[in-house]
Amino acid sequence: MADTAATADTSVTETSTTTAEGYRRRDVLGIPANTAAVAAAGVGGVAVLVPLISQMAPSKDVLAESSTEVDVSAIEAGQAIKAVFRKQPLFVRRLTPQEIAAADAVPLSSLRDPQTLEERTKEGHKDMLVTMGVCTHLGCVPLGAGEGENRGEYGGYFCPCHGSAYDTAARIRKGPAPTNLEVPDYEFTSDTTILVG
Ligand code: FES
Repeated sequence: MADTAATADTSVTETSTTTAEGYRRRDVLGIPANTAAVAAAGVGGVAVLVPLISQMAPSKDVLAESSTEVDVSAIEAGQAIKAVFRKQPLFVRRLTPQEIAAADAVPLSSLRDPQTLEERTKEGHKDMLVTMGVCTHLGCVPLGAGEGENRGEYGGYFCPCHGSAYDTAARIRKGPAPTNLEVPDYEFTSDTTILVG
């Protein structure tokens, strides 16, 4: 202990000058050993964290998978297509005027998960319905997006697993599914292209 104190005194004595160099030396030598150890651990921690963080950052492949661009120009009124978004089915459907009218005619009070068609589509694109193709009951893929598939009694999508029926706004109308088909985050990047995610 005495040796340590003497060493510390010596260090302070040696560095008690008013030069910039002196302050630097005293700043270093005057640091208690445990503080220096913590500082060293901190540096080590940064050195370890950097590769960890770089490993946690999403790769370019993952980033590319996190969004899906869909060209909707070829979808005619009454048609739907299936795409893939984050490895799950995505339905993109262009509604006919009759399908829009049918959706608008439904009183919100009669819906299990009340939402208007406007709320489920983008402004100026009420005819373009973009939803996940995943039944909100237990995750089956509903029918209705493929050519000639059964759209159920409400004209939207029909889940054959347990009989959930969705209307033309993909809102749940019958069966065990608790909520409407999910509308993912997306935007129109042009009149004919949407970017999902
Ligand atoms: Fe669709 Fe059960 S998973 S009704």
